[in-house]
Amino acid sequence: MHLFTYKQNELYAEDVPVRQIAEKVGTPVYIYSYNTLCRHFEVFDKAFAGVEHLVCFAMKANSNQAVLKTLANMGAGMDIVSGGELYRALAAGVEPNKIVYAGVGKTSAEMQYALSSGVLLFNVESAAELKLLNQVAGKLSKKAHVALRVNPDVDPQTHPYISTGLEKNKFGINIYQAIEEYKTAAALENIQVVGVHCHIGSQITEIAPFVDSLKKIIILIKELRKMGFSIKYLNLGGGLGITYDTETPPSPAQFAGALIPLIKDLGNCKIILEPGRVIVGNAGILVTRITYAKPTTSKKFLIVDAGMNDLARPSLYNAHHKIIPIQQNKRAEIEVDVVGPICETGDFLAQKRLLPEFLQGELMAVLSAGSYGFSMSSNYNSRPRAAEVLVFGDKYYIIKQRESYKDLIKGEEIPLFLGEMS
Ligand code: LLP
Repeated sequence: MHLFTYKQNELYAEDVPVRQIAEKVGTPVYIYSYNTLCRHFEVFDKAFAGVEHLVCFAMKANSNQAVLKTLANMGAGMDIVSGGELYRALAAGVEPNKIVYAGVGKTSAEMQYALSSGVLLFNVESAAELKLLNQVAGKLSKKAHVALRVNPDVDPQTHPYISTGLEKNKFGINIYQAIEEYKTAAALENIQVVGVHCHIGSQITEIAPFVDSLKKIIILIKELRKMGFSIKYLNLGGGLGITYDTETPPSPAQFAGALIPLIKDLGNCKIILEPGRVIVGNAGILVTRITYAKPTTSKKFLIVDAGMNDLARPSLYNAHHKIIPIQQNKRAEIEVDVVGPICETGDFLAQKRLLPEFLQGELMAVLSAGSYGFSMSSNYNSRPRAAEVLVFGDKYYIIKQRESYKDLIKGEEIPLFLGEMS
């Protein structure tokens, strides 16, 4: 469900015409719907109402302050993967004891920052990380609360770049070596083992991989408890997919419905969930204007003012994002390539796509762009990053100003000797 709908053939974000935002704020622009965002969080959170749980939004999907604040107001915690994400989460007012910290490459400075901020727990991904965390915690006279991220070797059947739970992936600790690592962790003075973490991938559209991995994890938890470990948290990660095109992922209720009976068996254990995409993906669109229509001898290009620097997913994962006009009217459909202004052939938003015949100067909306859209954008080709707007009912708010040319050279310096040379 989302609130980007046509009213009298005009695309609206909630009760605001998208055209109005594009004309005032310019393009490209990311537009998010506040009520869609809230609804997605609520539906997901409610689905797990039957068990003690905490939903930690995977803020790598969208780390805008206003988005984080919206979710924090609803009781969300955050799943972070860097010092920068911790900074953003704290700045948005997220309670530190609702923050969980994952990632294969945490540095000692990042660990120090997280320990002094009082995050709930670290999802530790290797023996070497455990050792460093123990040292850093010792220096601060703190105990680091830890869940080992276990790699269950389950195929999530998603794009290889976003599969994380296979033995060959860089993530987590092999499930068959996990007991050994838990023993090592228990022997470390400044580490307190509190849980198990597992995240097998992203944009997963079947329930089976989640169930298979949970079953393996439950066996591990029972084993660990027998050995005397107190496992108070089971972090199931994120990964639930959304509909971009024709996918039919399980609903949060179906997802929870398949997992809860297994979880209940565990008794005293708080469940942590780390959804990203399913919360914010369909709560956002990217609006872009067609700069040129360019028919060539082999195909028709629509050159738009959003490029792979604004939305990397099509270029990076060959991802499909629906494209719709802002003004709906009867017109023929033609096959086009929608491409950006970047100097790379890989710069496209859609290839060989049957779309209504768009006109030069017209606006189009790229759907399902709320997750991994702006957060993966860059300044490639020295393009200022897009503005972000949050719509709430019949009002809209700029939640990130479009970058200026001046922003592009922020922090860059010309050494004096170069000045002397001209
Ligand atoms: N937890 C951990 C430890 C993760 O690594 C991720 C995503 C999530 C949670 C959230 O997963 P989600 O619920 O959003 O599927 N850039 C890619 C997606 C990368 C996902 C990385 N990890 C894309 O645009 O498809």
